[in-house]
Amino acid sequence: MCGIVGYVGRSAATPVLLGGLRRLEYRGYDSAGVTLQSSEGLLTLRAVGKVARLADKVRAEWSDARQASCVVGIAHTRWATHGAPTEANAHPHADAGGRIRLVHNGIIENYRALRAKLEAKGHVFTSETDTEAVARLVGEYNKGDLRKAVISALRQVEGAYGIAVVSADEPGRIVVARKGSPLVIGVGEGECLIASDPSALISHTRRVIYLDDGDVALVTADSVDITDLDHAPMDRDVARLEFEVSAVEKGGFEHFMLKEIHEQPESVRNALRGRLDLLNGTAVLSGMGATARELLDLQRIVMVGCGTSLHAGMVGDFAFEELAALQAEVQPAAEFRYRNPLVDGRDLVVAISQSGETADTLAAVREAKDKGAMIMGLVNVVGSTIAREAGRGVYLHAGPEISVASTKAFTGQVAVLLLMALKLSRGRRLSRERGLALAAEIARLPELIEAVLRQDAAIAKVAESMVKHEHAFFLGRGPMHPVALEGALKLKEISYVHAEGYHAAELKHGPIALLTPGMPVVVLANRSPVLDKTLGNAEECKARGAHVIAIVTEGGPEAAVADEVILIPDCDPLVATIPAAVALQLLAYHVARLRGCPIDQPRNLAKSVTVE
Ligand code: AGP
Repeated sequence: MCGIVGYVGRSAATPVLLGGLRRLEYRGYDSAGVTLQSSEGLLTLRAVGKVARLADKVRAEWSDARQASCVVGIAHTRWATHGAPTEANAHPHADAGGRIRLVHNGIIENYRALRAKLEAKGHVFTSETDTEAVARLVGEYNKGDLRKAVISALRQVEGAYGIAVVSADEPGRIVVARKGSPLVIGVGEGECLIASDPSALISHTRRVIYLDDGDVALVTADSVDITDLDHAPMDRDVARLEFEVSAVEKGGFEHFMLKEIHEQPESVRNALRGRLDLLNGTAVLSGMGATARELLDLQRIVMVGCGTSLHAGMVGDFAFEELAALQAEVQPAAEFRYRNPLVDGRDLVVAISQSGETADTLAAVREAKDKGAMIMGLVNVVGSTIAREAGRGVYLHAGPEISVASTKAFTGQVAVLLLMALKLSRGRRLSRERGLALAAEIARLPELIEAVLRQDAAIAKVAESMVKHEHAFFLGRGPMHPVALEGALKLKEISYVHAEGYHAAELKHGPIALLTPGMPVVVLANRSPVLDKTLGNAEECKARGAHVIAIVTEGGPEAAVADEVILIPDCDPLVATIPAAVALQLLAYHVARLRGCPIDQPRNLAKSVTVE
C-alpha cells in the first residue's frame, strides 16, 4: 500500500530517493517524506500530497550542496491506514530523541498496546499512526547497535511490515526488515538500494535480493548482511531483473493505463508464448508442476483472488466446467481465509494476483496449504511473495503494471486460465478436434485485441454519451457476467461513476428499480448461446428509457435495441471475454479522461493491497 525507498552509496541520495518514490507512487500517494543522514545528524522533510510536493519542499529547503553531501537516506510515499494524510502522520517517523528515523509499509496490529506501554513510560506521540510506536520502540532499545535495537523492537510487534531505519549515530548503514509486506534490496556497484518493489531500482541495478518474512538486513554501500529475528545468519539469492526500464515509463502515452491497454496484444502474446500447443490442441504449462496423473485425479479447482483477479477467476470457472467438466469454484480471498474452507489434497487452489502481494490472497494460500490442498499461483510480479509461497504456478509475463486500474493483467490471467482449462480438458472431456479449434481461437487473441484497439477513437465517441451520468449498469450472461463486473469496476475505479455489473437476468429482481431515463446500460451482446436472452434483458432496460450501449460481434446478429454499439471480432464465446474486456477498459478510460480524473492514481486506491 505504501512505497518505501532507501539508498546507501557514494552518490547524492536525494535524487535516487525521489526518483524511486515517483516510481512507487502508484502504491500510495496521499503524503510523502524523506530522511537523509548528514554531518549535522538526520535531516527530514515531509509533505502532504504527491511526491512532487515533497520534491518542491526539498528544493526549497535543502541547498544543492547540502543534498550532494548526503549519500544515505530513506523515503516513503503513503497510503493512509492509521491517521489522516497529514504532515505529522507522514513518514519517516522518529524515536523520542530524534536520533532514529523509520519508514514502514504494512499495519502494526498491536500498536495500541505498544503505544500505551510507551506512553506509560512518558513518551509523547506526535502522530496518530501505528508506525510511530515502532520507531519509538527501536529508540528504547538502541544502545549503539541499530540492528540489535530493531530486532528487539520487532520481537514485540504483531502485524505486517516492511521497514527501513536509519540512525544519526550509525552513518552509512540502513537496517531493513520484512514480514508480510514486500521488500527488495538492489545490489549495485558501490551502492545498495531498498524498495517495496523492483520498479523503483531497475534504473540503478538489475541485481536484487528478495527478502523473506522474518528477514532483517544490515545494508551498507558494499554489503548486505541478513539474519533472522534470532540473529541467525540467513542466505538469500541475488536474482536478476528481466524487464526493461522503458516498461516502467509512459512511452509517449498520456497515462500508464492507456499504454498498458495498448500493450495487450504483446502481453497476451507473452502469456501464450511456448504454452499453446496448436498441433495437439492442448497447452504446456510446466510451471504447474503437477503430473498428468495428479491433474487427472483432481476433484475440483478453487480460484481465489480479489478485485479484478477475482473477476478473472470467474471467467476461468466457466472455462474449467465447460471444457474440462471439472468442478470449479471462485472465492473472494478475504472470505476463503476465514470461512474454514472445505478443501483437501485432491483440490487445486489457484491464487490469482497481479502484484503477488495482496494480503488476503496470500493468507488464502497459507490457509489452503494448511488444509493440504495443491496450490499454484497465477501471478504477474516475478519473485513476489505469493509466487514464492505457492511454490509453483504460472507467470503472466505481462511486464510491470503501473496504473492502479488493472488491465493487461486481467487479459493475461484469463488467457492463462483458458490455457489451463484446455490442458486439463484434453485429459478429460474435450475431443482433439474441439481442442485444436479452441487452441486456434486462443492463438488469435493478439489480433482480436488489435481489432478492438483500432476502434479506440470510436469507443471514445461512445464514452461522450456517458460522461454526464453518475450511474451506469453493465450486463452480461455466462462468461460475460464477470466481464460485466470487470467493466463496472474499471469505470468505478477511474471515473468515480457509480457503475454496477449484473447478471443480465438479475436486473428485474430488483436493480432495475434504479434505472432512470438516459441512464447508460452497457450490454455484452456478443454471439453466444444466450444472446437472445441478453437482448431481451436489454429490451427491458430500453423500455424504461435507458441509453443502451451494446458490445456486439462484428458481422453477427444485430442489436437493434442498442443506441450505440461497439464491435468485437467474431470468436469463441469463452475467448470473446478478452476482446470484450479490452473494449470496456477503453470505454472506462475515455469516460474518466473526459471527466478529467487522475486516471493512473485514482483517489483512495492503491495498486497492491498489502493489508487486510
Ligand atoms: C483492479 O483494477 C484493482 N487495482 C484491484 O481490484 C486489484 O485487482 C486487486 O486489489 C487485486 O490485486 P492483485 O491482482 O495484485 O492481487
